[in-house]
Amino acid sequence: MDSSRSKMRLLSLGALFLSTSSALPNGLYSRQVDDAPKYTALGCFLDTGSRVLPSKVISTHDMTAEKCAANCRGYDYFGTQWSSECYCGSNKPTDAAPASECNMPCSGNPDETCGAGMRLNVYEFDRACDDLDTEEPPVVISGFEYKGCYTDNVPQRVLGGITVAQHDMTLEKCAATCTAGGYAFFGVEYGTECFCGTNLDAASTKVSEGECSMTCMGNHSQQCGGPNRLNIYEKPNPVGAGSNLESVGDFHYASCWTDKVDDRSLKAVDWRTDDMTVEKCADRCSEFSYFGLEYSRECYCGNELIGQAAPEKDCAMLCVGAPGQWCGGPDRMNLYTKATSTSVTTSAEVTTPVETETDTPTITPEPETTTAPTEPETTTSDIPVSTTELPSSTESSTTTTQGPELTTITDCPPTPTYNGNPAYCYVSSGLPTACRQLASTTLNSRSVGPSMSACKSALTRYGMPTNPAATACFPTTALPAVPSSALARSVADSVYACLHAPTASVICQSDSACATNTYTVGQVPSPTPSTGVDLLKGDGGFEDGTLGDWVLGPSTHLVSTTISNARPKSGSRGLLMRYLNVNGGGNSLTYNLPVVPGQQYRFSLSFQHTNPSSTTSLYLYVYPDILQTPFTEAQLYGAPANAWGTREITFTAKASWVQLVLHVGGNVVATNDVYIDDITFVRLT
Ligand SMILES: *[C@@H]1O[C@H](CO)[C@@H](O)[C@H](O)[C@H]1NC(C)=O
Repeated sequence: MDSSRSKMRLLSLGALFLSTSSALPNGLYSRQVDDAPKYTALGCFLDTGSRVLPSKVISTHDMTAEKCAANCRGYDYFGTQWSSECYCGSNKPTDAAPASECNMPCSGNPDETCGAGMRLNVYEFDRACDDLDTEEPPVVISGFEYKGCYTDNVPQRVLGGITVAQHDMTLEKCAATCTAGGYAFFGVEYGTECFCGTNLDAASTKVSEGECSMTCMGNHSQQCGGPNRLNIYEKPNPVGAGSNLESVGDFHYASCWTDKVDDRSLKAVDWRTDDMTVEKCADRCSEFSYFGLEYSRECYCGNELIGQAAPEKDCAMLCVGAPGQWCGGPDRMNLYTKATSTSVTTSAEVTTPVETETDTPTITPEPETTTAPTEPETTTSDIPVSTTELPSSTESSTTTTQGPELTTITDCPPTPTYNGNPAYCYVSSGLPTACRQLASTTLNSRSVGPSMSACKSALTRYGMPTNPAATACFPTTALPAVPSSALARSVADSVYACLHAPTASVICQSDSACATNTYTVGQVPSPTPSTGVDLLKGDGGFEDGTLGDWVLGPSTHLVSTTISNARPKSGSRGLLMRYLNVNGGGNSLTYNLPVVPGQQYRFSLSFQHTNPSSTTSLYLYVYPDILQTPFTEAQLYGAPANAWGTREITFTAKASWVQLVLHVGGNVVATNDVYIDDITFVRLT
């Protein structure tokens, strides 16, 4: 697997590597560096609402003490809490708790404990031998913080942004490239490659420094990753540089939110101006339920929302018209929502009156880093949604008539039941990404409402309106604009669990028959798809004007991908991937499907391009079989302009699922327009 992967990686970088790939960089040496900070466990301690370790809080689903230690480098103490949270500080916590109270497994290692609700496993950094301050990261790059050596995945890169490979790569060059693109992260790999990103791919893990042992080809004193290993650097957000408005007009701030150039999260209005402010966008979008600010000068409005909550640090670009305000980032928007629009109201019946509580807590907006303090003391799955958490009438004028559905949804069975082959639904949860987001630690008090709306619109594509059990998973009451963290978490967890219930049965995302049928999670449809049918459901003809279930890679700055009516092969639309001065970059589309192991399939497409003098490559890949277009076929250099050609891969499926990938990349001087149409995936036997 490894050798195929690295071979494919070289090829996918296109002609660029022809001259260098055969000769591994000379002069490489292996650094025996072990600069992981050493620490000692102090035991279980009580936390308080104001946090005994208040700094640099992060929450990840792969938390361990070691990961927290890396995050807290430079502090004296750190602690893990609530399975996935990490806190840093300079003062030793004082209130010890019985060790038995720190009983939650770490999200990154079930054999290790990571605190519990308001309980911290606390650690102290060892300073016995060397003062930490004298411990240097591999190379200091001004303005960046070194994050470590990380694993990379092909073709899903750890850092999702633009990609450059240069035979004279240095840290400075990579830093400059990524800074110019507005990215907070950069990473160097394999001596010559540079990746930019807005965050780290959750699939990547930190590994020992020794695995990043290749020197940069442009400066042998610097370390540039290794094979499928990246040295990663991050530009920390300038503290206090920007802020979001708590409310503006009828809107409240919700969350940093994902967006895509070819499939906007808000589609009704696209407005750009060089004096953009939050207020101007709010004004422009006043008739809509949502607005979002992106890339410093872009404003989007809409009543329909897709996409998902993203970490706040991804939204780190300032508004051009108001340098104190955040205006999103690359493919990220700061999302604002009207208080009433956080309702996920359905037509479901309201059956009993609200229990009125006189001691309803006042719900106040919380800053991002303190969303955790109100977390329940036990696991969220045990927390019933209490009516005491319902919004007071000061939060929303409609709450007095709200029914008890937030309670009702906890009646759903809490765990998924796989009654078929669990591998059939290749996505572990079997839910669309927008719904899986409900289980994410990124979700916060403000983004829970928009996240439920986005999940609902995603599910609509899978027939949810005709599935009362799934529809009933969503509460009919409006949440307050900023619910308490406990309420947000509890509602999200309840909806998420409910959608997994066998009765909700939405669910096989990868099932081409899902458009018309509903299945229980994991159930194998019977009969299986017949031969001769295009399993892409027409998504490869792009006739409906969308990418359908194709997922576009993130390199949208150099490579624009649009649905175009300029040159359809058939019908009236096709895909246009426009490459503009791409130096060793590329972009890909991905599609996941169920298949029957042992049967033969064909993945094919038609294409043409406009610039035969560019070294563009067009690859088809099939995973998990790791099949790809042969190198000589993939290179479009010299291939006739403006004429249709075809590419295909025929294979026998080894697993019960496939991932189809279409990748266009290479070096393009000026422009190369690559038109693609009639992508099909057909079962042959
Ligand atoms: C090479 O990298 C080292 C370490 O960052 C730096 O001190 C040196 O100036 C660099 N050399 C060149 C020619 O840039």
